[in-house]
Amino acid sequence: MKPIIVGNWKANVNFDVYKDLPSESKNIEICMAIPYIYIPQARELSKKNVSIAAQDCSRFGIGPHTGEIPAEFLKNFDVKYVLIGHSERRAESTENVETLTSKINKALGAGLRVIYCIGENSYDRENNQHMKTLYDQFFTVVGQNIQLDVAYEPIYSIGTGMLPKKDDVQEVIDHIKKWSRNINVKGRILYGGSIDANNIEDFEDVKGLDGFLIGGSSLTTNFIEIVKKFDSMKNFH
Ligand code: PGA
Repeated sequence: MKPIIVGNWKANVNFDVYKDLPSESKNIEICMAIPYIYIPQARELSKKNVSIAAQDCSRFGIGPHTGEIPAEFLKNFDVKYVLIGHSERRAESTENVETLTSKINKALGAGLRVIYCIGENSYDRENNQHMKTLYDQFFTVVGQNIQLDVAYEPIYSIGTGMLPKKDDVQEVIDHIKKWSRNINVKGRILYGGSIDANNIEDFEDVKGLDGFLIGGSSLTTNFIEIVKKFDSMKNFH
């Protein structure tokens, strides 16, 4: 599996960035997480080199669930990945363990690949409870013997410009690796939170890191520069 860089547009859209993404990348996979309604447009642009992710999927399958978007529909639109458990959804849509577990099961069942997001808030970090929070977010939701990518996104770093210390990121990555091994979960580990073109290279030597999830900077042409830098970071391949 190649390292992956995922842009997360959230409730924004900018196809100018999408159109300018390199049509070839030697070493990495490029992916954009797009609001549902813009997915057909992304698909029409048919950038062979860019994988499409949805930012969520329904916890229900096809059927009488008004307003829901089941994973099967996404699969029909060439969606490859789905983000599940982003902290904004956990907070704003009060997603709980049951919801997240069902969503992962539905997504995997439909043949989508899951990028499961976990992350502690600043209170947990300051009170040294972060590892317990992350452990619970992982083990209450992630099943055994599956393929799933995990994105570590400390909440205090999302959209704030505040980067965690590299050693702290390394510690969390090491734990996620160990937890995944213990229940035979195979996949990549990403970091997300305030990554931009000026700091992405600071993370080059974090061991076991396989990619990045990028919010704000994926909406500007900065993202093109970030992608190119990532493609040439030699420790990632
Ligand atoms: P950010 O967001 O890059 O704007 O900090 C990351 C995310 O929420 O995935």
